[in-house]
Order: sequence, then C-alpha cells, then structure tokens
Amino acid sequence: MKQSLLTILRNKKTSREDFRKAANKLCSLIASDAGSFLSEEKISVETPLQKGHGTKVVDNLILLPILRSGMVMLPAFLNLYETAKVGFMGIRRDEETALPHIYYENFPTISKNDTIFVLDPMIATGGSTIACLKKLEAYKATLSNIFVISLISSKPGVTLIKKTYPDVSLYSIAVDPSLNDKKFILPGLGDFGDRFFGT
Ligand code: URA
Repeated sequence: MKQSLLTILRNKKTSREDFRKAANKLCSLIASDAGSFLSEEKISVETPLQKGHGTKVVDNLILLPILRSGMVMLPAFLNLYETAKVGFMGIRRDEETALPHIYYENFPTISKNDTIFVLDPMIATGGSTIACLKKLEAYKATLSNIFVISLISSKPGVTLIKKTYPDVSLYSIAVDPSLNDKKFILPGLGDFGDRFFGT
C-alpha cells in the first residue's frame, strides 16, 4: 500500500489533487507505523466484567515538522498523537550552494525523556537534518529518542546522517540511490513542496 501511494507521488503525470490525496493517505500510514517507536507502560484496566491488564502510550512526544514540506505530515500525526507538543523549524536550502540555512525555530521545552519525531518528507543531502539535529542536541534532547521520519531519503543523505548521528533513528519508505547536481533525489519525485502546495 505504501509503495503504491509512493509510486503515485513519483509519477510526474499525477495531478496536484491526486498528489495531495496520495500524500495524505501515505502520511496516515507512516504516522501509524511511527507508533511502534513510542514507549508504553503497563496499566490495569477495569472491563465491564473484571480487572484486566493493558498498556498506555507514554505521553512525551514532540512533533517537529521541518518547514515547509514537513507541514504536510503534521495533520496525520496530530490526528493520532493528539497530546503531542509541536515545535517548528524553518530550514531553507541555498539555491546556489545547497547548504541549509535556518530561518525560523520555535521549540517547546525539551526534556531528556521526550521522544521527538522530526518530520521531513525528503532527505536529500542530509544537511538540513543534521542542522536540525545539532539544534536538538544543543537543547539537550536525548539523541537515541529522536526519529527522523521521511517518505524518500537518498543513500548519500542517510550515510551522512548515520555517520554524524549514529544514535538517531531514521525511518523512510524508500532510500533512493543518488542526487543530481542540484541536490534533488534521483529518481525521487521532484520538489515535494512545489507539487503539494502548487507554489
Ligand atoms: N526536496 C524535495 O522536495 N525533493 C528533493 O528531491 C530533494 C529535496
């Protein structure tokens, strides 16, 4: 299912309407997968008949969409993780150098037990992700509690992030082999934000 939706996103003939529909569905499936990264505690529960055992997801999640494409992932995650705190980080790629430039940040208070989902659909060079992880490190986030969640990442990007931050976990529907000279993922799907937002 996830690969079929991703194929719709990859297809250059997909209309904006269908791109949005497929992206929203895929983000819901990804949000559901990400539930397995959360810790649970054992609790007891009273059924109408008797006392039983159950679990409760520990409520310490921070969602951190990377503007602007990460905003596409946010509604699906908020729909499932209703009590999560949300931070924002604006990172723009310099068109000439492809280097990341942080232009906005607004983080909630981060404590060492918090789980953090960094939401960024496309991980190309890995530069933006590393810039974001550096900030989270400075805010004393626990690196092993951070999950970078994407739709497509590139092999070079994944290699660089893993080398720089081996304790951080990466989740991606596909890892594509390479980047072009403008640092777009190949085969990728083009510019995610442009195709979703139409700008
Ligand atoms: N961002 C995108 O939207 N697409 C890419 O291929 C790389 C970064």
